[in-house]
Amino acid sequence: MSILEIIKSRRSVRKFKDITVESEKIDRLIEAAMWAPSAMNSQPWAFVVIQDKAVLQSISDNSKKLLLENMTNFPALEKYRGVLEKNDFNIFYNAPILITIYAKDNGLYSKEDTALAAQNLMLEAHSIDLGTCWIGFAREYMDLEETKNKFKVSSEYSAVAPIIVGYPEIVPSQSIRNKPIIFYRR
Ligand SMILES: Cc1cc2nc3c(=O)[nH]c(=O)nc-3n(C[C@H](O)[C@H](O)[C@H](O)COP(=O)(O)O)c2cc1C
Repeated sequence: MSILEIIKSRRSVRKFKDITVESEKIDRLIEAAMWAPSAMNSQPWAFVVIQDKAVLQSISDNSKKLLLENMTNFPALEKYRGVLEKNDFNIFYNAPILITIYAKDNGLYSKEDTALAAQNLMLEAHSIDLGTCWIGFAREYMDLEETKNKFKVSSEYSAVAPIIVGYPEIVPSQSIRNKPIIFYRR
């Protein structure tokens, strides 16, 4: 597949097979992420990889609780209140792996750099038959000091990209994109 075909055929996956992802494939995803460009080649990213089902369930529960208790800070999420209130809604869709990419806070463009690493990771995953979905719902909880302490993340890092990974059970059909807004092209 050409790179454009890989880019266009990647979908956010929300249903996974109950299959373990090989450790070498996780290495490969991190390798792809690390080869993203970054401002002044600062490479401000760091990774937390969680594969324990009980831990993932507890992060999902705690993330929902945190968002619901602080919904006034996240007005854009108000439309998801109903789904977040459902006890049986797992924000990770029972995926076997969560890779959260953190950004070191001291760089001018650390978050942009880290988002590029995240996209590299998702595209590489797709190219080796894995599915991913960026789970914004998890960011606030993964960014708490107590969560960072638990996963040995230094305090100068901020959570940017929580991404679930696994073998897709269902791949959604082609997504839609708006026409590009091009303000100037000459
Ligand atoms: C920053 C960001 C946060 C997202 N958060 C969530 C999320 O919390 N839950 C979810 O199911 N999908 C989430 N998504 C996935 C988007 O819904 C998805 O990318 C979008 O609908 C386009 O679909 P596609 O990825 O299949 O092209 C997120 C995507 C991004 C980039």
